[in-house]
Amino acid sequence: MSGHAVLTAATMTSDRRAPKIWFLGGGPGAEDLLTVRAARALAQADVVLWGKNLLSDAVVSEHARRDAELVPWPPATKADIEAIYDRAATDGLHVAWLLWGDPSLFSSLREEVQKAGARGLDCEVVPGISAFNAAAAMLAIELTKAPESSRPLILTQGRGDPVAIRDLAAHGGTMAIFMIAELAEELQRELIAGGYEPQARCVIAHKITRDEEVMVTCRLDELAATVAAGSLDSHSLVLVGAALEEGGPGVTAPA
Ligand SMILES: C[S@@+](CC[C@H](N)C(=O)[O-])C[C@H]1O[C@@H](n2cnc3c(N)ncnc32)[C@H](O)[C@@H]1O
Repeated sequence: MSGHAVLTAATMTSDRRAPKIWFLGGGPGAEDLLTVRAARALAQADVVLWGKNLLSDAVVSEHARRDAELVPWPPATKADIEAIYDRAATDGLHVAWLLWGDPSLFSSLREEVQKAGARGLDCEVVPGISAFNAAAAMLAIELTKAPESSRPLILTQGRGDPVAIRDLAAHGGTMAIFMIAELAEELQRELIAGGYEPQARCVIAHKITRDEEVMVTCRLDELAATVAAGSLDSHSLVLVGAALEEGGPGVTAPA
C-alpha cells in the first residue's frame, strides 16, 4: 500500500482550507522570473487570475495546478474579480492573483487587499521582479551607486502631470518611467526641460523578457520618434540618466 493518507468525508470537511488570496509578483513576463515562493503559491491555488497582457501564458502553464480555474485579466473585469473574492469566501478557495512585476509598484494592491479583507479573506503578498529590475539586468548596469554617490533613482510614470516629470528630471539622477502610453513626445520635452541633455542616452524597454521584447538605446531628443517608429508606446519602460551615461556592457551607443 502506498503511503498516501486516505481521506474520508469527515477528514475532508475538517481539512477544508481557510480561504485565501495571494497577490503574487508575477515578474516582468518570462516564466522563469517568478520567485520560488510565488511559484509555490501558484501551485496551490484553486483559481489563478493573471495579468495576461504582460505575463506569458507559460508563467501559468508551468506553475499552476492542472485543474486550477484560470482567469486571464483582461478580459476579466473588476466585477468578475469581486465575484471571485465572493466565491473564495463562501467556498473556501485559494486564489492567486499574478500581478505584473512587483505588486508594490503601480498596481491596485491596496484597493484589492481592502476588498479581500472586507470579505474576511486572508491576504498574503509575495514580492516580484519589477520591469525596471529586469531592464537594468539586461543592460548590466547599476541603477544606484553606494556609498560614494547619493544620486537618486526615481521611479515614476509617464501618465499624469507633465510638470512633475520636469521637476523630477531636475534631480539629475536616473529615472525609470513606467506607463509611457502615448506620451513619449511630452516626456521627451519635459525631461529635456528638466535638465537632461538632448543627446543623453535613453533606453526604451518594451515587453522585455518575453518573446516579443525590444530594447532600444537612442538619444533623448529622438525618444518620441523611436517610440513611434517601433510602435513601442504600450508595455514600455523608459530609462534615462546617470546610470546610462556611465555605460555598461549592455549599454550601446545611441543610433
Ligand atoms: C501597471 S504598471 C505595473 C508595473 C509592475 N508592477 C512592475 O513592477 O514592473 C505596467 C507598466 O510596467 C512596465 N512594464 C511591466 N512589464 C514590462 C515589461 N516586461 N517590459 C517593459 N515594461 C514593462 C510598463 O511601463 C507598463 O506600462
